[in-house]
Amino acid sequence: MLDGKKTLFSGMQATGNLTLGNYLGALKNWVTISDEYQTFFSVVDMHSITVRQDPAELRKRARALLTLYIAAGLDPEKNCIYYQSHVSGHAELAWILNCFTYMGELNRMTQFKDKAAKHADNINAGLFTYPVLMAADILLYQADVVPVGIDQMQHLELTRDIAIRFNNIYGDVFTVPEAYIGKSGARVMSLQDPAKKMSKSDENPNGSIYLMDDPDTVMRKFKRAVTDSEACVRYCDGQPGIHNLIDIYCACTGKTPQETEAEFDGRGYGDFKGAVGEAVVSVLKPLQARFADLSKNKDYLDGVIRENARKAQYFSAKTLRKVQKKVGFPEIPRG
Ligand code: TRP
Repeated sequence: MLDGKKTLFSGMQATGNLTLGNYLGALKNWVTISDEYQTFFSVVDMHSITVRQDPAELRKRARALLTLYIAAGLDPEKNCIYYQSHVSGHAELAWILNCFTYMGELNRMTQFKDKAAKHADNINAGLFTYPVLMAADILLYQADVVPVGIDQMQHLELTRDIAIRFNNIYGDVFTVPEAYIGKSGARVMSLQDPAKKMSKSDENPNGSIYLMDDPDTVMRKFKRAVTDSEACVRYCDGQPGIHNLIDIYCACTGKTPQETEAEFDGRGYGDFKGAVGEAVVSVLKPLQARFADLSKNKDYLDGVIRENARKAQYFSAKTLRKVQKKVGFPEIPRG
């Protein structure tokens, strides 16, 4: 508990182009709840190298992601926005936690199984222990809450198990974190296949709205979005395409599905798709403008990165030192 506030930790990977799903599902919620917590929002570049990356590209994307955190409305004076690789404690704690995590637990992780199947030529140990690094991220800051998507719930459960296991041996060292699952727009689906999550790695670019898409592109992608057979704007389970579009519309306008149904009563899909496109454009435009402004201001961003790296190092060092003592590592003798 810092300043009487609970601690919140979350992170995102800088791989692929960020999509509307990343924004509506994660970033926007972060901004909404950030005031209530002492927050740490990390660009988890150490996680990214579990899959082969082009170094220059990773560096560029990581900086763009960090810039986007700020453009989305996270004030870097109040929120610790930083690169995971700037804080050596993540790797150090991950090593220790590796020794408190079972092979069987990691073998059960569905994301590992998926990624191993997808990158069969590079099933490295880092891919396997990825969830332990994630546990280290969270436990290093004694986070009380962690906003995550459903796909990361299994990793969060593992984090809790590791924390409890460690605490049972050594006493109360770690705060056991809770998941924070956002409400509306938490899961934006592909515009081309509404059974799949909108993904930055989708092969079909028409399925995803990228955060840097210009208005024409956004409108075109919504015009082409897959809809259903009923030909009316109704929010029900049998109509996954329109369900997704209503979710997106509501997340962008703040309206409820009922209000949306009423607004488009008696009107066709064409009208509605146009309206969703416009709603999305009106969210993306200011975001893109802020992003462009920030990107021009190199000194400002460098200052933010420097200050927040220090801040994250400071908080993480406290936990790390405590853990090192508990497991029996000696201090460097003074003198
Ligand atoms: N694994 C998460 C993802 O791919 C990113 C992540 C890394 C994370 N460390 C974290 C999320 C800690 C929340 C908390 O989405």
